[in-house]
Amino acid sequence: MCGIIGVVGSSDTLATLLQGLQRLEYRGYDSAGVALVRPGQTWRARTAVGTESVAALRAECASAPSGFRSGIGHTRWATHGAPEAVNAHPLLDCSGNIAIIHNGIIENHAELQEQLEAKGHVFTSVTDSEVLAHLIEDSRIQGLELMEAVRASLLVVRGAFAIAAMDANEPDVIVAARRISPLVVGTAPGVTYLASDVPAILDRATAFYAVNDDEIVRLRPEGFRAIDLEGSPVRLHQLSIDWDLETAEKGGYDDFMTKEINEQPDALRSTLMDRRHKDGTITFDELRIGDDELRDVKRVVLVAAGTSHNAAQVAKYALERWARISVEVDISSEYRYRDPIVEIGTLVIGVSQSGETIDTIMATREAQYRGAHVIAVSNIVDSSLAREADAVIYTRAGLEVSVASTKAFVAQVAALELLALRLAQLRSTLSPSDIDALFLGLNAVGSQVATVLERRDRFEAVAHELKGARDFFFIGRHVGFPTALEGALKLKELSYLHAEGYPAGELKHGPLALIEPGVVVVAVATDPAMHEKILSNLAEVKARGATVVAVATDDDESIAAVADYVLRVPATEQMFTPMVDIVPLQIFAYAMARILGRNVDRPRNLAKTVTVE
Ligand code: M6R
Repeated sequence: MCGIIGVVGSSDTLATLLQGLQRLEYRGYDSAGVALVRPGQTWRARTAVGTESVAALRAECASAPSGFRSGIGHTRWATHGAPEAVNAHPLLDCSGNIAIIHNGIIENHAELQEQLEAKGHVFTSVTDSEVLAHLIEDSRIQGLELMEAVRASLLVVRGAFAIAAMDANEPDVIVAARRISPLVVGTAPGVTYLASDVPAILDRATAFYAVNDDEIVRLRPEGFRAIDLEGSPVRLHQLSIDWDLETAEKGGYDDFMTKEINEQPDALRSTLMDRRHKDGTITFDELRIGDDELRDVKRVVLVAAGTSHNAAQVAKYALERWARISVEVDISSEYRYRDPIVEIGTLVIGVSQSGETIDTIMATREAQYRGAHVIAVSNIVDSSLAREADAVIYTRAGLEVSVASTKAFVAQVAALELLALRLAQLRSTLSPSDIDALFLGLNAVGSQVATVLERRDRFEAVAHELKGARDFFFIGRHVGFPTALEGALKLKELSYLHAEGYPAGELKHGPLALIEPGVVVVAVATDPAMHEKILSNLAEVKARGATVVAVATDDDESIAAVADYVLRVPATEQMFTPMVDIVPLQIFAYAMARILGRNVDRPRNLAKTVTVE
């Protein structure tokens, strides 16, 4: 996946593009590039130096000629073609007048390239994207204006795309289009923008619009017009943006991850705010799904990826116990390929921080196609997932920029547990007093997380003690198991160390063979109901020479007998423990990554929003 940006009619085109690319780096940073266009001239610069590609591009652009009012820019996460400058976007046609940028994958690029080469087109990269420049060139040669040329090209490509194209023979025009990969348009007096997401142009545009699948937009300085693939006019949906630039920047912290870890108490409070009427009814204003329908749900399927999948696994325990509904949790990239069963009464919940993860969007589309009602749990208002779903619950965690997800996890668990309580209320599977007590308990989690954040130094000190370790097993039982999975995911993606999550009881069925001196076992051991069992599991690994780190409650004295290091947290109700227990594990992973000199906000090979399958 990649980030794209464009501007027409600007007096500081280059600065706009470079600033936008910097904010889009979380989508990929294998290479970066810009193209500036004015009558009869296209100027291009590209760099491919890994995580610092945008900074290198800025230096490269110091020699750019001035006076360009329009341009496009791209930051790349390589799919087809090595992360080298020759494959960096913008890519040009044979004449060098047409420049394109693309996020997505053109699946039939090989056959299209063959046809174009047979007509005499010369390719200079090994990307799937370059066919777009030559297809557009072909239509321009036949006399089509740029928008029609883009439309004609998109009629023959298969795959996913957010693209933007410019032509020096039609300056002050950018044509952009979308299928699956995200794209927004922004306007301000005399200037029009496009970008993969709103933060890239947040302080430049004053109004923002979502481009839907198979829509093509022609941007000019005075505004834009949009059509569908058949050429009929369409209206773009105006987005409601409830965050400002400050939330999109670091706010005084060293990095976004620290800021976002520290924002977790607020994320929880906002997610839970105004969710209960005076009469005790739990309510989701944005849900758009009737009580009768919710009451009659027979089965819930949660689909999600990565951290969101771990949050969904926590929710399974709460939905089953409180609402007595049978729940399955699916990895979203697997769901649609296994011929899923959707019966009457199946509710599918797509959980995604960004709401743009393609695997999750495809899974929920498949579920809708098979007749399921779909609820989106999304952090981004008006995300693709939110717009396509039958109903939506927003997590209101605020913008999350760091590639490693932190505050989104706790907000997702809170939102899904709240939904479980609402279902329990509708189905009378819990008493009103139990629901009240759980609702109040859930609202207290934010302050418990704040208490844990004050202990940051202790968690970092343990990371220093273990800085030589290379193998980690994270274990837990009940909701401690998905917490362990999430702890392992944080450590591996941030520090590049080997870390695996297991249900504690499963170790003896194979993984125990890997335990030996030097291996670290991190146990989530805060659940009183499971405490004796997990102490036994820890005794088993200790007997085989492992170093043991335990997340344990303040009042737990017995843990000292088996743990070499204890990460203390306040006790909370069993279902709420993942939101509290994950915090020391996030800080531990962060500290380990810093000690090892990793880029915590931008781990290698990853991107914040995964828009390719
Ligand atoms: O935006 P989403 O919640 O759909 O993203 C899903 C995963 O890509 C994401 O959680 C990923 O696993 C994070 N890097 C984990 O920290």
